[in-house]
Amino acid sequence: KLRVLSGIQPSGQLTLGNYIGAILNYVKLQHEHECFFMVVDLHAVTVPQDPAALREQSESVAALYLAAGIDPSHAAVFLQSHVPAHAELGWLMTTMAYMGELERMTQFKDKAEGKDAVGAGLFVYPALMAADILLYNANLVPVGDDQKQHLELTRDLAGRFNHRFGDTFVMPEPYIPKVGARIMSLDDGTKKMSKSNPNAGSYIALLDSPDEIRKKISRAKTDLGREIVFDPQNKPEISNLMTIYAQLSGQTLEQIQASYDGQGYGAFKKDLAEVAAGALEPLQRKYAEIRSSGEIGRILRDGAERANAVAEVTLRRVKESMGFLPPM
Ligand code: TYM
Repeated sequence: KLRVLSGIQPSGQLTLGNYIGAILNYVKLQHEHECFFMVVDLHAVTVPQDPAALREQSESVAALYLAAGIDPSHAAVFLQSHVPAHAELGWLMTTMAYMGELERMTQFKDKAEGKDAVGAGLFVYPALMAADILLYNANLVPVGDDQKQHLELTRDLAGRFNHRFGDTFVMPEPYIPKVGARIMSLDDGTKKMSKSNPNAGSYIALLDSPDEIRKKISRAKTDLGREIVFDPQNKPEISNLMTIYAQLSGQTLEQIQASYDGQGYGAFKKDLAEVAAGALEPLQRKYAEIRSSGEIGRILRDGAERANAVAEVTLRRVKESMGFLPPM
């Protein structure tokens, strides 16, 4: 059995990008491995969050995990802030990181671009993410393509730590979907779909109503021409819609291409809207049930207890290796 850990920020409505790039793989991995899936609320506050919105979003993300099929009797589902070892190891990993390597992180560069006041938390964010992963000695980290660079940094920091203080951390591997690792924005096939995009038409939220989904897909940008062919280089927009179709329907890209041979974008988009609405309908139904069940508190408490048990052991070993005196 391998250890699996991943997390999503409660910083907006979760999108089809989060679902296809990450959550589908959480669901897939949970039965074979020992899994830890958290809501990374400490990461979310690297940009300003309204306290009421943070509370609501944190519970909402946890409920979406469950609605998507994560079984809390297998996987530990918890909030990052309920496991204090994250903040503590986060600090220790910050001391292992170099300014230069943090400056090279493309997510930092994107988020800092054009701002005159950039939060320090945004800068050291990858060290906290490294701590998240290393605390559990995770072997596999299911993520979308945009987190690959953070995983590489995590490996560098783990290697540096092991070299200085002796073998302590396991080297984690990213687990990235072959199709759907980077779902693109509906209004621009060159930008990734993002929950923090101010234009809600650029993404499909997991909680969008069927009508919103239909509207957004019918307005989605499409490339010149009319053929339904998978060609991300030359036809990024239709290729992105085909990727979404494939991941939500279980069909392969080849099957989709074959079945829309000779048909135009209109017919394809109409069907895609039904595929997406149909795939999200059961998830939304379960989501509503979970939110009204009053069960989330118990699930998160249990998840945090299991996470704490593992994280505390790692943190104790790390502190001992670094030369911190144990409590006397
Ligand atoms: P976040 O909250 O931005 O995204 C959560 C997960 O969704 C994936 N994702 C996508 N996949 C495909 N296409 C997209 N358009 C798309 N948008 C998002 C992300 O790759 C991610 O897997 N730093 C992380 C959160 C984090 C974390 C961790 C992840 C903190 N600690 C430890 C793994 C392990 C982040 O900002 O993800």
